[in-house]
Amino acid sequence: MTVSVDVQHWNAWQRSWDRQQQWYLPDREERFRVMLDVVEAVAGPAPRVLDLACGTGSISERLLARLPGAVSVGVDLDPALLAIAAGHFAAEPRITLVTADLRSPDWAALLPPDPFDAVVTATALHWLPADDLARLYRDLFGLLRPGGVLLNADHAPSPDTPLLNAADEAFQRRRQERERAEGVLDWPSWWAAAAADPLLAEHVVARNAIYGSRVEEESRSAQWHLARLRESGFTEAGVVWRSVSDALVAAIR
Ligand SMILES: C[S@@+](CC[C@H](N)C(=O)[O-])C[C@H]1O[C@@H](n2cnc3c(N)ncnc32)[C@H](O)[C@@H]1O
Repeated sequence: MTVSVDVQHWNAWQRSWDRQQQWYLPDREERFRVMLDVVEAVAGPAPRVLDLACGTGSISERLLARLPGAVSVGVDLDPALLAIAAGHFAAEPRITLVTADLRSPDWAALLPPDPFDAVVTATALHWLPADDLARLYRDLFGLLRPGGVLLNADHAPSPDTPLLNAADEAFQRRRQERERAEGVLDWPSWWAAAAADPLLAEHVVARNAIYGSRVEEESRSAQWHLARLRESGFTEAGVVWRSVSDALVAAIR
């Protein structure tokens, strides 16, 4: 991928992406911190990490800042988010970016060959239909070394707490309204701003052609993920962090 080396420009988009995501996930940094605690606990200070559905590479950025000996492979399908990642990490030799569709059964053939110590992913796998996600969990089992860890943070409200879920949704909506009034961008307005940037516009057209007709899937419970992970062969699977609406599940190969 050819990207201008105007690093400041891409850094500004990286921060803007983080702010937009944080509008949806006020505890985003906290879940990333717990995620990297588990990576470091299981894999030590120099892990080889797969950042799945990496977007602009937010998790990899935090990984590399925290663990200077780490290396990361970021995989995504979105040409605009990958363009931001490529610009932001232009001078960073520890990250490799790969374009792949996780719904394709052959996606892993595009990765460098060595096994991973950890797979991390956030706010992404609910985009996949259930059959594709169950297959992906089996693929990830095969990509991890024995003893390696998979961490997936995603929407996972409990079906047992509808009153709590509704109260939290209303509370978050009020926070979002306040922040919108202060100028924070939501998903549609962020993408409109990206489309208006001459350096990103053609990538946004390409991403709209890829994602335009796709329907976002329903979120699944943490229990659903734990059951699929155990069926995929993982030795252990558990919840290592959660909020009312979201959970971080971890599984050890
Ligand atoms: C909300 S973003 C989260 C990105 C990043 N993990 C973060 O936390 O900032 C969801 C990501 O999933 C990616 N994604 C969704 N479906 C995908 C697929 N089939 N193959 C590869 N990436 C996919 C999108 O392109 C997008 O970058």
